[in-house]
Amino acid sequence: MNSDMRMTLTQFLIEERRRYPQAGGDFNSLLLNVALVCKRIARKVAAGELGDATGSASSVNVQGEDQKKLDVISNELFIEGNNWGGYLAGMASEEMEEPYQIPACYPQGRYLLVFDPLDGSSNIDVNVTVGSIFSVLRAPASDRPVTTADFLQPGCEQVAGGYAIYGPTTMLMLTVGNGVHGFTLCPQVGEFMLTHSDLQIPVDTHEFAINASNSRFWEAPVTRYVNECMAGKTGARGKDFNMRWIASMVAEAHRILMRGGVFLYPRDSKDPTKAGRLRLLYEANPIGFLMEQAGGRASTGRQPVMNVKPSALHQRIGLIFGSKNEVERLERYHNEPEQNDEPNPLFNERSLFRAPA
Ligand code: AHG
Ligand code: MN
Ligand code: MN
Repeated sequence: MNSDMRMTLTQFLIEERRRYPQAGGDFNSLLLNVALVCKRIARKVAAGELGDATGSASSVNVQGEDQKKLDVISNELFIEGNNWGGYLAGMASEEMEEPYQIPACYPQGRYLLVFDPLDGSSNIDVNVTVGSIFSVLRAPASDRPVTTADFLQPGCEQVAGGYAIYGPTTMLMLTVGNGVHGFTLCPQVGEFMLTHSDLQIPVDTHEFAINASNSRFWEAPVTRYVNECMAGKTGARGKDFNMRWIASMVAEAHRILMRGGVFLYPRDSKDPTKAGRLRLLYEANPIGFLMEQAGGRASTGRQPVMNVKPSALHQRIGLIFGSKNEVERLERYHNEPEQNDEPNPLFNERSLFRAPA
C-alpha cells in the first residue's frame, strides 16, 4: 500500500476513541506524547557517535547498573515530554529510584506512566537494536502526591502497554487491550503509520532465546526444556530448534511478535537476592500484555506474569513469553513434581560408591 494512504497513529487513536463516547482526550494525548518522545529517542539513537551521546554517563542507577548517556537522555525525554500534559498523576522509571511527582505548576491527571526509557542499552555502543518500553496504569488518586504503592498494581490492570524499537526501521507496537497493532515511523512524514494490524503470534515455534551462559544457575524445568530443544529431531521433541540471543529484550519480543518463538529469562540461583533479571513493572508487564493480546502467553513459569501483585517498584521476576504452546509446556514442566534427573553425586565416577552397572 502507498504510505500516503496508510492510517497514522493519531487517526488510529481517534477512531479507537469513538468506540468509547464517554472517554476524554487524555488517554490519546498520553499515547501521542509517548510516541513523540520515542521519535526523539530514535533520532538520538540513530545519530550514534555523531550525536555525542554514546558511552557511559559515569553514574549508577538504583539497580546498581552503569548508566549509559543515552539511558539518562532517554529518561529525561520521557519526563519532559509527559510531565506538562495534565493527564498524569506520576511516573516511574528504571532510571529513577522513587516515583516522579508532577510539578505543582502543571495539572495532575488520572494516569500513571511506567517505563524503561532504553532497553538493551548495553548494545548501544555496538549499534545493535534497542528500544523503549512503556506501561500505562490508572492512578488510584489524582489529588495528592503519588506514592510507590500507587504503582504496585498487577499487569492485568494496565490500560496500555507497548514499546518502540529502534532498529533498521523505528516501530511502535501498542496495545490498549484490543489486540496488538504495529506502526512504522515514516522518515519522510515523521509520523507512525499503521503497518501491522491485529498481530497474531503463531502458537508453535522452533526458535527459543535464552542466555545459556546462565545454565548452571537454572532450575530443573528450564534445564529440561532447553535440553529437549537442543536434542532436536533425535530427542523428546522430535524436531530441530534454533537458538537466538540479542540481549535486548525489545528486539527479542519484536521477533516473537512477528514470527513466533519463546523467550526465557527465568528465575535462577545466580543472585539469591534477585528473583530474575528483568523488572516486573516496566519490562515484564507491558511485554506480557502485548504477548497475551497477540494470542501468545507470558508467565513466570508458575503463573501468568500479569497476575503477580508487585511488592516493589523495581522488583525483578522470572519471565517466559512467546508462542502459546511452548509457554504452556514450560508451565507444565514447572508444575510437575520435581524430577531429579541429576545423577546422585554420591554415585558418580569419582566417588567412593560406584553406581551399580
Ligand atoms: P536494560 O538495558 O534496560 O537494563 O535491560 C537489559 C535486559 C534486557 O533487555 C535483556 O534481555 C537482558 O537485560 C540482557 O541480559 P544479559 O546481560 O544476561 O544478556
Ligand atoms: Mn530493560
Ligand atoms: Mn533500560
